[in-house]
Amino acid sequence: MTGRLPACVIDVGTGYTKLGFAPNKEPQFIIPSAIAIRESAKVGEQAIRRLAKGVEDLDFFIGDEAFDATGYSVKYPVRHGLVEDWNLMERFLEQCIFKYLRAEPEDHHFLLTEPPLNTPENREYLAEIMFESFNVPGLYIAVQAVLALAASWASRPIEERTLTGIVVDSGDGVTHVIPVAEGYVIGSCIKHIPIAGRDITYFIQSLLREREVGIPPEQSLETAKSIKERHCYICPDIAKEFAKYDSDPSKWMRKFKGLNSVTKQPFSVDVGYERFLGPEIFFHPEFSNPDFTIPLSETVDQVIQNCPIDVRRPLYNNIVLSGGSTMFRDFGRRLQRDIKRNVDARLKLSESLSGGRITPKPIDVQVVTHHMQRYAVWFGGSMLASTPEYYEVCHTKADYQEYGPSICRHNPVLGTMT
Ligand SMILES: Nc1ncnc2c1ncn2[C@@H]1O[C@H](COP(=O)(O)OP(=O)(O)OP(=O)(O)O)[C@@H](O)[C@H]1O
Ligand SMILES: [Mg+2]
Repeated sequence: MTGRLPACVIDVGTGYTKLGFAPNKEPQFIIPSAIAIRESAKVGEQAIRRLAKGVEDLDFFIGDEAFDATGYSVKYPVRHGLVEDWNLMERFLEQCIFKYLRAEPEDHHFLLTEPPLNTPENREYLAEIMFESFNVPGLYIAVQAVLALAASWASRPIEERTLTGIVVDSGDGVTHVIPVAEGYVIGSCIKHIPIAGRDITYFIQSLLREREVGIPPEQSLETAKSIKERHCYICPDIAKEFAKYDSDPSKWMRKFKGLNSVTKQPFSVDVGYERFLGPEIFFHPEFSNPDFTIPLSETVDQVIQNCPIDVRRPLYNNIVLSGGSTMFRDFGRRLQRDIKRNVDARLKLSESLSGGRITPKPIDVQVVTHHMQRYAVWFGGSMLASTPEYYEVCHTKADYQEYGPSICRHNPVLGTMT
């Protein structure tokens, strides 16, 4: 690897894109996956329109800048983890590479990520953009869940490092529960639940609205999001938590201070029960969504029970967290306790059904937490892209030129087992 420039690692999520270079421990940038483009009028001379189109191609902003651009419309190239608009994706990547990473794509190998159950066609589109528009020398498209598993190694002794585990990836739009055995995603057993960061923000927004706490209406969403990220946590028992707040409010309440963007006047909000009720919807989804009532702990348990029997124990043993919405304090502890309760209840039931003749072996449930959870996928990618094996599995430009985009249909090592 000597003489090679470091690989660029880019994880484009539904809400945020994480980008940087291997083998760094943190992404250099975490920016909103947003792009602002000018809405063009469809009238006028064709020649002028063509000229305008050339300029228009460069006239866009991504990330936080996208929200500040007036006269532009903000779009998101990715929805629920999947790329929805490849034109926008290409432009988005262009600025990621040139403007943010300030890299010459011809000089770096790239590691990009894909959600579970991405289609081979999507992989081909991405390969086409990377090899043809950006002329990269090498590309590897890694499965996000596998990278998240690799990221959890940082917190474990070498003998416990395994590519078998369950990844609970909760980002902005959706929470996936993904079983991985020996580096292969067991696609048929993946489940997702419709509760993630955005839903918690909406729920907190609605709780605050009911209390009418004096937040400027146009800032209520961003205020709810900041309160969520700064003050929320997961509690072991909500009834006891209510009692704690009622008996000693000053100890538990927090003050959020904001600035009215129109009048520039400061405003403040007392934050109370929202602190623990917000993320509680992972475990009591019915609080915010009457149509969905299965707690996250039960979903994880169901996913493992659907997997082949010989991998169930190692899966219970290695439940790995990934994504910004797993950052709430004590998320891992609560998830572990609730899964363990389910598992123990089932073991007890089978013991009593056997009339006490069978004593099932206890199952060790372990939820692995680490401080890189917020960008676990990116960090796993950065680790992988700094190994010699990465350069062996990378698709090269020469392969692409000889065989075309279909070389990227399948991942050489860490693929999908459906
Ligand atoms: N400290 C924190 N505590 C709680 N939530 C947080 C924290 N930091 C970020 N978040 C939330 O995490 C979410 C973004 O997570 P992440 O970057 O993993 O999503 P993504 O990769 O863009 O989405 P996806 O994986 O669904 O495509 C947002 O809802 C954000 O508010
Ligand atoms: Mg993500």
